[in-house]
Order: sequence, then structure tokens, then C-alpha cells
Amino acid sequence: MKKILVVGGAGYIGSHMVKMLLRQGHHVVTLDNLSTGHRDAVLGGEFIEGDIADRELLDELFNQHRFDGVMHFASFIQVGESVREPAMYYRNNVANTITLLDEMVKANIGHFIFSSTAAIFGEPVGIPIDEQHPRQPINPYGRSKWMIEQVLEDFQRAYGLRSVSLRYFNAAGADPEGELGERHEPETHLIPLVLQAASGRRPDITVFGRDYDTPDGTCIRDYIHIVDLCQAHLLALKYLWDGAPSAQFNLGNGEGFSVQQVIDTARKVTGRNITVVDGPRRDGDPARLVADSHQARQVLGWQPEYASLDTIIEHAWQWEQKSLS
Ligand code: UFG
Repeated sequence: MKKILVVGGAGYIGSHMVKMLLRQGHHVVTLDNLSTGHRDAVLGGEFIEGDIADRELLDELFNQHRFDGVMHFASFIQVGESVREPAMYYRNNVANTITLLDEMVKANIGHFIFSSTAAIFGEPVGIPIDEQHPRQPINPYGRSKWMIEQVLEDFQRAYGLRSVSLRYFNAAGADPEGELGERHEPETHLIPLVLQAASGRRPDITVFGRDYDTPDGTCIRDYIHIVDLCQAHLLALKYLWDGAPSAQFNLGNGEGFSVQQVIDTARKVTGRNITVVDGPRRDGDPARLVADSHQARQVLGWQPEYASLDTIIEHAWQWEQKSLS
């Protein structure tokens, strides 16, 4: 049993991670400022309401607990918002993360798992995208994540802080047991929005562009089940505990599905009618984003359990129905 700090553990991915860590028998402390997270999504362990910008709080926390690892899910994640409010993104995703890392170094905590993103690659120059694909982010969100990956390289070199950066493609789905799911406000992600259109919570779903260079003209993404994503975090921790050096891994299923395929699958899974409205392209959306995750499979031994889009949507649908009742 190890002691893990989960920063941002009240959010979508963090809350699933806390549940998995507790299941594994670990001692979990969640730190979350509840700016976007939900207290009731933290299903156990210790909960502290607070911010990683608060050095005194971190100092106190690190004096009180001897953490074997820190996982960091407390970032802003909306591309469009990052273009309008770059200061907010650089302050939270970069400056505050450096405060956290700095305090970890002071407290001699040497293992860090960082939530990175496919957005660090910008417009892909080739598909599938492996770890060596050029990092040329095209918005402040992607740049903020790429900056921290570089900071982490320097922190390993100078201070011996070892880390794994996990570059998520499209995190989706929900806890198979139905206890947790996606609860963003406002919701911007495709799968929950499509399912809200299926349940009647929204009148329709808008498809952002049908004129992309893809077989059906809609954008292609690589959807990865939230449980598979969390599994990769557990393996990444173990990898660091075994003494391995810092690394970066792309996390996706390696298979792309178009927006139209997601809608068709949601119609099949839910048996509901889903009204579709065609809209213009959304700024900054590449036509295709598909991961090459061979490294994660080979080095971490990662094996996605819920790779099928049907299963991802089934679990998200179970959550949508529960949220309605
Ligand atoms: N889409 C629609 N209609 C909607 C919402 C989305 O057509 O109402 C489309 C988007 O245009 C895109 C696809 O559905 O083609 C997926 O969009 P999401 O917003 O669900 O996900 P993104 O691929 O834009 O974003 C994800 C993560 C981000 C991360 C990005 C990396 O959620 O945090 O991948 O490129 F930055």
C-alpha cells in the first residue's frame, strides 16, 4: 500500500483515478479547489479543499504526509477558452504546476504523473501520432501542457524528480459500475453532448463541419475509455517505483472514429432518435487525431480493456441516464 496525492481528484478523470487507487488498497489524499470538480465525486480517502497555488498549504500537506507519488489532473482543458483567456491557462496550467513541482522537490517527493494531451502535437504531420511526432501546439492550452513537459525534463536533470507524462487523446466513457461519469459545466465534449441529445436533455447535436478530408467529411478522433486511461496511470506509477527514468506516452486505442460514426453508434446503443444539426467548423480542430500507443503497451505493459466504441458509449449512456433520474 502506497500513499498517493491526487490533485484535481474531484474532476472527471481524477475521480475515476481516486476510485481505482482506493480499489487497489492505496492511501489516497485528494486536493481539489472545486472550481470545476464535484466533492461528491470523490468516493473515499482524505479530501482537502485547496489550491496548488497555495504554497503554505502544500508545505503543510507535504510535512504531514510522506507521499509515494503525485498525480496532477487540476488543469483547465478547453482549447477555445485558452485562446480567449491565455493568462488564465498559463497561470493555472503552467505557473501553479511549477509551484506544485517546486514544493515536491523541497519535500523530496520524487514521482510525478502528469496529464498531458494530444494537443501538444498541433496539426498532425502524419497519422498515427507516436511520441516522436513534432510538438508544435497551435493554442495556449496545448502550449501550456508542452511547457510543463519541458519543465519536467529539466526538473529530472537538476533535481532528480522523475515523471511520466501521459498524452491523452479523447478521454471518454464512464465508470462501468455507474458511480462516476463526465460532469463538465459547460459540457463541450462530443460523446456526452450526443448522449444528452439522445436523452432529451438537449434538443440536438451540432456537427462542427462536414467538409474535412475524411471518408464521411467529419473529424476523426481516437476515443479512449476512462478506465483504460486510469489503468495506464497505475502502470506509470509502478514504472517509476521500479526506478525507471522519466518518460512520455501517447494514450489512445489507435483507431479513429468520425463524429458521424459516434452519432450512429450512439443511436444504436441508446435506441433513441438523435437530431443532428450541421454547423460550421470549430476553430483549431484537426481533421484526424489518432494515437500510436505501442510504447505504452511495450514499456508499461498497458492493454486497453474497453477499446470498443460501443462499450465506451454504453458506459457513458448508463451515466447520462443516472444523471437524469
Ligand atoms: N464536435 C462536434 N460537435 C460538438 C462537440 C464536438 O461536432 O458539439 C466534434 C469536434 O469538432 C471534434 C470532435 O467532435 O471533431 C471531438 O470533440 P471534443 O470537443 O469532444 O474533443 P477534442 O478532440 O476537441 O478535444 C480533446 C480533449 C481536449 C484536447 C484535445 C486534443 O477534450 O482537452 O482533444 O486535441 F485538447
